[in-house]
Amino acid sequence: MPMTLRTAQDQDATVAVAIGDSARAAEWQAALIDAAPDFTIVRAEAMAAPAVADFAVVWRAPLGMLSRFPRLKAVLSLGAGVDGILSNRELEPGVPVVRMVDEALTQGMVEYVLWHVLRYQRRAPELLAAQRRQEWLPIAAPLASERCVGVMGLGVLGEAAARRLTAIGFRVKGWSRTPRQLDGIETFSGTTGLAGFLGGVEILICFLPLTPETENILAAPLFAALAPGAFLINAARGEHLVEADLLEALAAGRLAGATLDAFRTEPLPADHPFWKHPAITVTPHVASLTRAASGARHLAAEMRRILAGEAPLHAARRDRGY
Ligand code: NAP
Ligand code: GLV
Repeated sequence: MPMTLRTAQDQDATVAVAIGDSARAAEWQAALIDAAPDFTIVRAEAMAAPAVADFAVVWRAPLGMLSRFPRLKAVLSLGAGVDGILSNRELEPGVPVVRMVDEALTQGMVEYVLWHVLRYQRRAPELLAAQRRQEWLPIAAPLASERCVGVMGLGVLGEAAARRLTAIGFRVKGWSRTPRQLDGIETFSGTTGLAGFLGGVEILICFLPLTPETENILAAPLFAALAPGAFLINAARGEHLVEADLLEALAAGRLAGATLDAFRTEPLPADHPFWKHPAITVTPHVASLTRAASGARHLAAEMRRILAGEAPLHAARRDRGY
């Protein structure tokens, strides 16, 4: 029988992979075994005694899931957004919730943003519509430096996107809860800074976490404060957007288009008006998917910190809701 050699860094921990989608669960189990071969990594549904789990790896935490694991040292999220975990009343008060922070996730999101911002800046929707009409439409696109992009949320993803947009020449404004200073970016914070942030923004991108303060924020008053004919990109959560207000703003021409990646109901229902709206681009919550290999390395490092008695680097703060 092969002998497994243990090193001084090896630690004992039982990790429950509690992800509903079985293909995804299998992929994460394998990636976690690679990243932490000294841990016992078990699919939650196959655990005879879930109570022994030290850690639970989850995407969202529906009711009934966390109560199966009464001795958790932490809940680890496959996603950057932890709204679907923090909202679970079964989450014990002292148990840390670790967010997904991973270079590949950030890079994927930056690429998604560049795709859609450049599409709008280069007036691609008008050009493609003209092609469908077989119309030769020689319209000029403004330069990036002539376009103002607003980034709501200057955390891991918002900051990376704002920096990249600045690097390719866009005029970028950013908004966060607490004041932030970023080279070359005009920053605003808090509710008092919101109007100043929105003024003149022609392409608005939402990277806010979903909290009671940010729910329904993408609504008629906010749309009215943007430059006329602005575009919206929502890569955060469906609950940020008041859907009827978006449809009305598009019909009235206050907004010229929207790209939406997250929805109140997912998958987006077949009869939803967004599917066929000519000014709306729907993507199926794929703006940036967490890659199992690099994501598992991040989770393993965070679990090792916790086992060593250190605070995880990317714990959500329960008091602020993200
Ligand atoms: P993060 O690092 O926690 O950053 C959140 C940012 O939002 C921070 O700058 C924070 O301000 C700001 N913020 C929070 N509440 C605010 C408020 N009330 N007013 C103004 N600003 C506020 O989050 P992240 O990693 O960048 O991720 C952001 C969100 O993206 C996630 O929560 C998730 O919903 C979404 N996401 C979507 C996908 C996708 O594929 N569609 C993938 C990954 C993530 P402070 O700087 O002051 O804290
Ligand atoms: C995806 O939506 C995430 O929060 O990572």
